[in-house]
Amino acid sequence: MGYDNLLSPTQVADLPLKHRVVMSAMTRTRNDPITESPRELNVLYYTQRATDGGLLISEGAAPCAMGRGYIRAPGVYTEAHLEGWKLVTDAVHSKGGFIFCQLMHAGRVSHSSLLPDNQLPIAPSAVKLDGLVHIKDGAKVPYETPRALETHELPGVVADFTNAAKNAISCGFDGIELHAGNGYLLQEFLAKPTNLRTDQYGGSVENRCRFVLEVVDACVEAIGSKKVGIKFQQGVTFSGLLETEEDSFLQMAYLGPELEKRNLAYVCQSSLNGDPYYKMSKLTKPNFEADPYRFFRSHYKGTLMINGGLSPEKAEEYVADGTADLVAFGVLFLANANLPALLASGQVLDLASGWKVQLWYGKNPADDPVGYTDWPLVDAVISTIKSAATAVKETVVGA
Ligand SMILES: Cc1cc2nc3c(=O)[nH]c(=O)nc-3n(C[C@H](O)[C@H](O)[C@H](O)COP(=O)(O)O)c2cc1C
Repeated sequence: MGYDNLLSPTQVADLPLKHRVVMSAMTRTRNDPITESPRELNVLYYTQRATDGGLLISEGAAPCAMGRGYIRAPGVYTEAHLEGWKLVTDAVHSKGGFIFCQLMHAGRVSHSSLLPDNQLPIAPSAVKLDGLVHIKDGAKVPYETPRALETHELPGVVADFTNAAKNAISCGFDGIELHAGNGYLLQEFLAKPTNLRTDQYGGSVENRCRFVLEVVDACVEAIGSKKVGIKFQQGVTFSGLLETEEDSFLQMAYLGPELEKRNLAYVCQSSLNGDPYYKMSKLTKPNFEADPYRFFRSHYKGTLMINGGLSPEKAEEYVADGTADLVAFGVLFLANANLPALLASGQVLDLASGWKVQLWYGKNPADDPVGYTDWPLVDAVISTIKSAATAVKETVVGA
């Protein structure tokens, strides 16, 4: 099967994309262990995945110290973070690529030992996440009950996002992606199980979406709508947050038109309603009766990125029928560093290696390229094919 639609050009806000294969945000916890900033190793990782006219989304970066959730995951709020990211954005741009910075405020998915003055994590409501969190020195401890944010504190959290958005632009990112999925702070506001508030930020769908829309609006004001994207996740059980199909779909129906009005760079809807490729995952596939991507598309006419368990074949179908403008791939991009070129050249993809879960996150406090930047250099394969093709052509011409 060809990927003519997936590999066709499109304009996203001000970005002239040469194809629609986006790298999804992936936390890899291999940043500098002290400064938690990108460094040479991370620059190499992004450079390997950058393509001329292609869009990458960075790993989740904490917008502020209270937004941290993982050791060796980066932020975008200190001088060291910004210097590190500048190296990454320069490298991606020098290959003709584009990169958005994902702003990921972990909310309750954190631990006091990771936060300033050992404060408790913050969340819309004091609802604890079951399970264990990695803290310093490799230890794993139970999550704590987070502290519910007071209404008067919310503008301060919005300001953390806008500062981070401005920081991201200042170090060369082409835009930001707000992470409103995976059970982190923004989704904690959206979702009934984690939002028990009785003020104007809890209760009805409109109220639960209010904080997220306030963050969107503030970021739009700070850096412009063309530089703001947002990612939602439906039916994903990561971080113990599962909304019912009814709640997910009510929320999408409300947010679609609200976001369309705001004319953002894109909205990403992520789910696991993909296809059999996802059988390799141990994650639970939601039993949605309706297709979340097509449902959201029926409520939103702006630029739509979809993601989640999608094989390139399935992605091609969604672009061909107008559901999606862009498709973000996560796991496939891990082991297939130049995925767009592989698709273009009709190469067989490595579908399995990206599922080596033990390689997803860096464990060694020092440089940890294993499973990160040490996959076979597929560029070499491509150039061999190209030169072979050129040689054939020349022979034919010569004859
Ligand atoms: C190692 C790893 C780290 C991830 N970290 C993030 C993250 O920081 N932010 C985010 O929005 N999603 C994160 N995700 C989810 C992916 O962006 C994507 O939504 C998910 O893997 C489904 O897409 P896929 O089936 O194409 O991999 C992560 C996924 C993996 C495998």
